[in-house]
Order: sequence, then C-alpha cells, then structure tokens
Amino acid sequence: MNRLSSNLLAWYHTQKRILPWRDHPDPYAVWVSEIMLQQTRVDTVIPYFEKWMKLFPTVKALASANEQDVLNAWEGLGYYSRARNLHKAAKIIAERFNGELPRNLDELRSLPGIGRYTVGAIASMAFGMDEPTLDGNLRRVFSRLFDVAEFADSPTGEKILWGLAAENLPSGQAGDYNQALMDLGATVCLPKNPRCLLCPLMSVCQAREHGTQEQHPLLKPKKAVPSYVHAAAVVVERGRVLLNQRPAEGLLGGMWEFPNVRVDGDPARMLVKSLKMATQLEVKKKEALHVVEHAYSHFKVTVYPFRCDKVSIPKNKNLKWVKLSELDDYPMGKVDRQIANQIK
Ligand code: ADE
Repeated sequence: MNRLSSNLLAWYHTQKRILPWRDHPDPYAVWVSEIMLQQTRVDTVIPYFEKWMKLFPTVKALASANEQDVLNAWEGLGYYSRARNLHKAAKIIAERFNGELPRNLDELRSLPGIGRYTVGAIASMAFGMDEPTLDGNLRRVFSRLFDVAEFADSPTGEKILWGLAAENLPSGQAGDYNQALMDLGATVCLPKNPRCLLCPLMSVCQAREHGTQEQHPLLKPKKAVPSYVHAAAVVVERGRVLLNQRPAEGLLGGMWEFPNVRVDGDPARMLVKSLKMATQLEVKKKEALHVVEHAYSHFKVTVYPFRCDKVSIPKNKNLKWVKLSELDDYPMGKVDRQIANQIK
C-alpha cells in the first residue's frame, strides 16, 4: 500500500462520519444512498434515506410500489429521474435477479440510473470488490493530489482521474478507500478554502506543494444558463384546484404542476392568451400570487402565478381537479409546491 492510501485509511478509521448506510451489509441500502447522494448533500439525504428504507425496505417492496408514492418519497431531493430510475431498476432486479442486486459489473451497469460511478460505489462498498469510483469530490481530491493539468470534465481528464483512483486503490479495502476519499472531499478538501493543515494527505499533495489548490479541478469555461419566465394559472373552484400532470419522461416527469406557459413578455398580460394557445385551457385572470424562482441545472425559471377563474377546460386526461386538502399527496417540484403552499 502506498503512503497516500495508508495515510488516508488511517485517517478514515478515526475520522469517518457515522452515516446510516455506512458499514451496511445490504447492497440495496448502499445503492439507494448512492443514488440519493448524487447532486445532494449528506445532511439533506439522511432523513430521506431513513424514510425511504421504512417505506420501501427491500428491492421487491420498491418494485411493487406505485410511482406516485415513489415520487412523493423523493419530493424535495430534486433530479426526479433518479427516483424513476431507481423504481424502474428495482422492477428489473425483482424480475430478473430475484430481488438481489447483480454482482456482475456489466449487469449492474445495464440498470437504469446506474453509471460508472454507482457501479464502482456499489461494487466496492457492498460487494468488497477492488473497484475505484469517481464523483465530484473525488475528481477534486485527485486533481489536487496530482496537480492534474487537464480539464477534469474533458475525456482526457476523466481518463487520467479514473486512472489515479484505480492506481492508488489498496487491494481488499476499496470500500473504505472510496468512502474515505468522499469524506475527505466533503470535510477537508473543500472546493473553497481547503483545510490543508488538517489533511492526512498534505505531505503527498502536489497542489499543496505548488500552491495551486484553489485552481482545481480545472473545468472547461461554462456556457451561461438561460433564464425563462412562466405564467401559471391557479384555478380554484369549490375547494378543488386544477392540476396538470407532466409527461412521464423529461424534467419533473410524471409530477404535478399548475397549468403554465412560457412567456416572452409581461406575464400578467400574456397569461390568458398564451395559455389558451399552448393548452386550450381558457381562464379569467384574477389577482397575482407570490412570484417563485428556481434554478435547475441547465436553466433558471421565474414563475408568476395568478389566481384564475375557469372559462373553458379542454378534454385532456392530464388535467385533474384535486382537493386543496389533498395537494400534499401529489408529487410536485419545488416551484409548484411553493405555489401550492400559498393556497392551501
Ligand atoms: N457521497 C456519496 N456517497 C457517499 C458515501 N457512501 N459516504 C459519504 N459521502 C458520500
């Protein structure tokens, strides 16, 4: 074992975070936690993970759950395709693998939502295999340790970083090694102001030696994200409100929203006409509710909601009158949940 991995493992054995899925023999729990932890911080994930494992304690329980309950349990974590993919993969595992996650890496990789990172994480942590993995934290850690001069988000940079993760992996201890790197990235090797003086790898870190920590990982210049404006109709009638279910695939797939439309001008003036053009739903606009903003990964949106009266509702199986008292049962993204909370 080299100095990097021996220092790292010694540090991990005394400093590791106590986490509910950690040192868990159950591959299903490891899988669920790894999917939740993609794009989401540990502190946010813990209560979701605990609730999830009560609701869907096994692969088979998840496979037989209905999609709305699955999305409801995920609500607030964002990136909902992760939940839909977990659900789809659970059905496949229940059917083809009798509810046990496959140990074969190609079979694992073929499951919806399981990419190279997740394969490495599950194989090392749940099955004790000598497999590396690489997420955002590990990219930063290795990029600094070896002062990697390539863009970390380029194919060459990726190849170099995966290579470094594999080369330094101590045989028989990949699960601890991978998780130690995750903890190091989350608590010491921070994106800004890394705590180098507390780092067990200070003596082997080339970025520390060259003073280039803050420059890592090198990333390609980002394109500006577009901003959109939407106008939404909140149509309430006799204790019920009109919701639209989004298409099954794509952003917030299968989740519920207030009927809305993208506008390229004043939302108050454009709502009625634009909504009718886009959806055939006709409404009469009343007062404005509070404006809601949200940043998704690839764009930002500002939604102007208005209370409305109905004028004419198209025959459309995605539209549904929902009791105000049952709004919480309908999975929604953050924007629509904030609007819902204004009218409950
Ligand atoms: N981030 C992603 N997976 C993790 C894990 N298993 N432990 C700590 N942080 C993580």
